[in-house]
Amino acid sequence: MESIKTIEWAAGRVRIIDQTRLPHQRVYLDIRTPQEMVAAIQAMRIRGAPALGVAGAYGLALGGLGIRAGSRAQFLAQLRPIAEELCAARPTAVNLSWGVQRLLAKAEASEYPQVEKLQQLLVAEAQRVQQEDLEANRRLGAHGARLIPQEATVLTHCNAGALATAGYGTALGVLRAAKEAGKALKVYVDETRPLLQGARLTAWELVEEGIPATLIVDSMAGHFLRTGGIQCVVVGADRIAANGDVANKIGTYSVAVLAKENGVPFYVAAPTSTIDLSLPSGDQIPIEERSPSEVTHIGEVPLAPVGVSVANPAFDVTPARYVSAIITEGGIVYPPYEEGLRRICGR
Ligand code: MRU
Repeated sequence: MESIKTIEWAAGRVRIIDQTRLPHQRVYLDIRTPQEMVAAIQAMRIRGAPALGVAGAYGLALGGLGIRAGSRAQFLAQLRPIAEELCAARPTAVNLSWGVQRLLAKAEASEYPQVEKLQQLLVAEAQRVQQEDLEANRRLGAHGARLIPQEATVLTHCNAGALATAGYGTALGVLRAAKEAGKALKVYVDETRPLLQGARLTAWELVEEGIPATLIVDSMAGHFLRTGGIQCVVVGADRIAANGDVANKIGTYSVAVLAKENGVPFYVAAPTSTIDLSLPSGDQIPIEERSPSEVTHIGEVPLAPVGVSVANPAFDVTPARYVSAIITEGGIVYPPYEEGLRRICGR
């Protein structure tokens, strides 16, 4: 997977792999403006919480490059609404606004009077966000690998792999690190309706990585948790509240409850950029509602009768009591979570 770049800076543009075309087509897109970045994010051409953090940061850097301003104050005044537009592209993964706000704060805190210097500063900081995410994934992977038995069958949901991050992955980073440590793995992959991130992206990453993967439809997870000799579940996260409640792809909550019912540990792997200590619990996490067409159709193919009412929340919240441990780049946090999460985030 090292050769596939989820996102990269390419001389004044941002190149992303179009994840809606994977696994059968490798199409790269050049993003030139923050508006194009917002559109790519909303269309899920780039997705996954940490990758959205990097995309948001690069989106603001592109915005900065497009500003024609005579002074630092004018530059910052034009930059702020661009930041707002980017943050609003998708609401659940906190990494998006975290990446955007980090760049905005960097520009606001800098002393540079020259617009050109501010523009360069934003590009450099976005590249730093990307590099730090890659390093965080490798560190959290090494921590998480300790939780994986020498021979293990693992279940995962959605895609928390290299494609969802700057590279290597969170949940899949843990599995990659376990493999690198010589552990023998098998992975059940939930297909993850409606947009099939499991079937299209996780299954692809695991096949490329040479980790034996079995694709199942989401409703099979309970059956295999009860009968399949699964040693643990490892998933990513879009936002983790201060009490350890976890928002992740719709369907994660059901998997967590079924895991607990069957005595299977349920691990969440996420960088600290996914932890939102400003929210006391998962009840305050905004849940994105997406287009009904994602449920009534698979791709372009219609399934349901015209006129049926549809609900399509893209995420759910798993209460902390179902989460056995949260794996971060700073180490593994066990319940009760609040103190441990604050310590690991340095707050
Ligand atoms: O809607 P998506 O595809 O952006 O949702 C992605 C997930 O829910 C992932 O599990 C999460 O972002 C963690 S990615 C390391």
